[in-house]
Amino acid sequence: MMDFKIKLKEYQEIVNKELEKYIKDKNCYEKILNESVEYSLMAGGKRLRPILVLDTYKLFKDDYENVIPYAIALEMVHNFSLIHDDLPEIDNDDFRHGVPTNHKKFNHATALLAGDALFNQAYIVLSEDLKKEPVQELLVRKIRSFNEFSKAVDRMIAGEYLDTELENKQIEKELLKYIHENKTGALLKLSVRMGAILAGASEEDLEKLSCFADKIGLAFQIKDDILSEEGDEKITGKPVGNDRELNKCTYVSFYGLDGAKKELTKIINEALELLNEYGDKAEFLRGLTIYIRDREK
Ligand code: IPE
Ligand code: IPE
Ligand code: MG
Ligand code: MG
Repeated sequence: MMDFKIKLKEYQEIVNKELEKYIKDKNCYEKILNESVEYSLMAGGKRLRPILVLDTYKLFKDDYENVIPYAIALEMVHNFSLIHDDLPEIDNDDFRHGVPTNHKKFNHATALLAGDALFNQAYIVLSEDLKKEPVQELLVRKIRSFNEFSKAVDRMIAGEYLDTELENKQIEKELLKYIHENKTGALLKLSVRMGAILAGASEEDLEKLSCFADKIGLAFQIKDDILSEEGDEKITGKPVGNDRELNKCTYVSFYGLDGAKKELTKIINEALELLNEYGDKAEFLRGLTIYIRDREK
């Protein structure tokens, strides 16, 4: 039996080591900007998205080192989205990962630009990798991943727009689901799809795994809504009660706390069912699915 927690830690260490390679020198005029990027990127995120890329890839192939740039670029964009998400113009939060948010630690201009720098660094990582690629078949898969990457970022930005724009409004449950699928689900779905595309999975597998990814993407944000309502700030490392304060449209505001928990359990069970046919190979992905349901941060 694989020990899920040990495996998770191993993966997190791999991702952290890779990210460290992109930490920029501080001996330059833009020293503070580089510090601000490092501050957020290395603050202790769970690294869920890159891990999903790597472990989905491993359903089909063993040489996951080849796709690390795709995993890393995604974590960079995720961290850019968090820096901007905490700004006063979006969620106005003062803490994340148990430390002051980027704009509180540095200043607003630096936080905006640190987000922009991470956003662009992701595309540098991807284009550098594409430049090196000599194998035709793999190049086609990588170009498809690049294309899906940029489209998923487009969806994340649209989701963030709606999430902010619809504060204080009554909305239909279809729209609530749409916001969650975009602001958070898009990058999680991309994680799984990229892992499968890069591994050369069949269109049929890709379709099945996309359904799985839709479920965990939605479940992840429902759990985020639940933690924003009843989490422990000492564990989450970010404010609790912030969604309620801003009158955000969440699964908790729509379904109530118990209703949101019921939705979460239902969706997680559906996700687990979709992994059945991958047998033992999907053991870690099964662990991650349960982790998304049970996480406290
Ligand atoms: C938080 O994401 C923001 C959402 C999309 C809900 P994570 O909870 O994955 O953040 P880190 O990377 O672990 O900090
Ligand atoms: C963040 O959603 C989604 C993105 C940054 C794309 P939330 O605003 O609900 O997440 P937290 O609770 O601040 O991490
Ligand atoms: Mg937000
Ligand atoms: Mg937020």
